[in-house]
Amino acid sequence: MLVGTERLRTMVLTCSLVEYVGHRVASEDIQLFWQHCFLTAALSERLARAIAFLQPEEAYLAGLLHDIGALPLLMITSAEAKESENIVTFGWGESLELEREHFGTDHCEVGNWIGVSWNFPPHLLEAMVKHHSPREATQDPQLAGVVAAADQFCVRRGIVLGVALPELTEPTGNQDRAILQACLPQLNADEARKLAEMLETDFLHLIQLMEFGASGLFGGGIPKNPFREYEG
Ligand SMILES: [Fe+2]
Ligand SMILES: [Fe+2]
Repeated sequence: MLVGTERLRTMVLTCSLVEYVGHRVASEDIQLFWQHCFLTAALSERLARAIAFLQPEEAYLAGLLHDIGALPLLMITSAEAKESENIVTFGWGESLELEREHFGTDHCEVGNWIGVSWNFPPHLLEAMVKHHSPREATQDPQLAGVVAAADQFCVRRGIVLGVALPELTEPTGNQDRAILQACLPQLNADEARKLAEMLETDFLHLIQLMEFGASGLFGGGIPKNPFREYEG
């Protein structure tokens, strides 16, 4: 369990990394990175409370940090883009396969390196490393599952890392329900359906809040309707 000083230490280390990376990565990439992380964190906490997970604040923290391993990769692509005019800024939409092809590693593995070197507690480290494969979690499968479900929820709505956005189809309750049950196998179909509806409502609310504060915090970077970006 994270106690106050450990959590504070985690956030200080994260802020240091973010400040360091912030000077080396295009501002729009960093904005999208934080939009994704804040939304994943907020939905992780909401989901954790809804399923009576005992540590909803830890779910928030794990959601906030789950993609921290992507920051060094963003730095590399930014440096590549500066060095060569021919290089198209690499956008990978959290695809581990594309990352391994391009970097020889992926953001989960890099997240593990960061978490180990910063001495993150095992369950937080696991949630970061296993958020694309939560069924492999052994320390705290619920924490990994909550973060994975919230992450997928954002990715499917176009709030995702990288510049090249994934092909989207309009998310449906059935797909969201299937993701929730895949990440949190203890849920039955009816529970998963209700949680999917709750997350959809919260997501739309949070997007509106972010949009409201976007001029100051995110530079207006969040589309009103994320799906409009991919139409036609
Ligand atoms: Fe990820
Ligand atoms: Fe993510």
